[in-house]
Amino acid sequence: MQSRNESVQVNRGDIHALEAVALEATRTAAVASYAWVGRYDQDAADAAATKAMREALAGAPGRGTVVIGEGEKDDAPMLFNGEVVGTGAGPEFDIAVDPLEGTSFCAKDLPGALATIAFGQRGTLWSPGPGFYMDKIVVPPAAAGSIDLDDPPEQTLANVAKALGKQVGELRVMIMDKPRHRDLIQRVVRAGASVQTPAGGDVGGSLAVLLPSLDIDLLLGVGGTPEGVMTAAAVGALGGGMLGRLAPQRDEEADAIRAAGMSLERIYRCDELVTGDAFFVATGVSGGHLLGRPQIHEGEVRAESLLISRNQIRRISHTTFDEELR
Ligand code: FBP
Repeated sequence: MQSRNESVQVNRGDIHALEAVALEATRTAAVASYAWVGRYDQDAADAAATKAMREALAGAPGRGTVVIGEGEKDDAPMLFNGEVVGTGAGPEFDIAVDPLEGTSFCAKDLPGALATIAFGQRGTLWSPGPGFYMDKIVVPPAAAGSIDLDDPPEQTLANVAKALGKQVGELRVMIMDKPRHRDLIQRVVRAGASVQTPAGGDVGGSLAVLLPSLDIDLLLGVGGTPEGVMTAAAVGALGGGMLGRLAPQRDEEADAIRAAGMSLERIYRCDELVTGDAFFVATGVSGGHLLGRPQIHEGEVRAESLLISRNQIRRISHTTFDEELR
């Protein structure tokens, strides 16, 4: 992991150690929140995941700063923005966390909940400030040079189809099923592409674009900024294409972004959202096409994770004893 401004070197041994901590952080968060699957309590599930992840991060070698956390310190006692984690001795790094991405999927026992984290060298993960929402396009590596957030969706579909050597009618597009996307979904369908419209979960949706076996060609639409930065870590590691632009959903959010001196027009490329090498890890919580849910069998818990780093996707199955399950 080496930043483009060459600040503090993180060597290969450090990377392996940090990857191991990241895997442990999402694994324990997934197992802790799995106990809340189907219990209709989003807050309890999120708190369990966050607590477990925080404990795992305490053992990270070096000094990590949570750049994207669970909100400001006053709102969330755990993994708040700016919180410093790790043993203190070793490399400096940034972390973006979403200990439970898709809290409602977990609460309702629907597929798609994940425990997620991204690591980058210190200073490399973009901070969205008071921006909660951003407009995003995510495409596989072959279409990375063919996207522009200012293009109308019909043009985007035509450009991506050409880059992928497909007809627009063959494209499968992931768009979250939100009222704000009603027009977008209709236009994509009218243009001839097919859509997959989950109720939420655009990190999982973006990962589906990056994993050829899931047969999704692009992700479009407005989702969370934390999810956007985490997605950019995975997209950047694999050479995919991503663009993002702050897209406030309320006047107060827009005012706060302007007051923070941030632009509502600027389009961020993937390598501006994450400006150096980074890696991304997710562990399945409630199951789905991407990652299975933790499996408990004869006192053992098996959790399934994806580690995405340096042009590699590794699928990892961890088996542990079940003392972490309540
Ligand atoms: P949570 O983990 O907070 O439940 O977020 C899930 C999610 O669907 C994200 O994947 C997405 O980016 C965001 O919510 C969209 O927010 P909203 O549901 O407010 O439109």
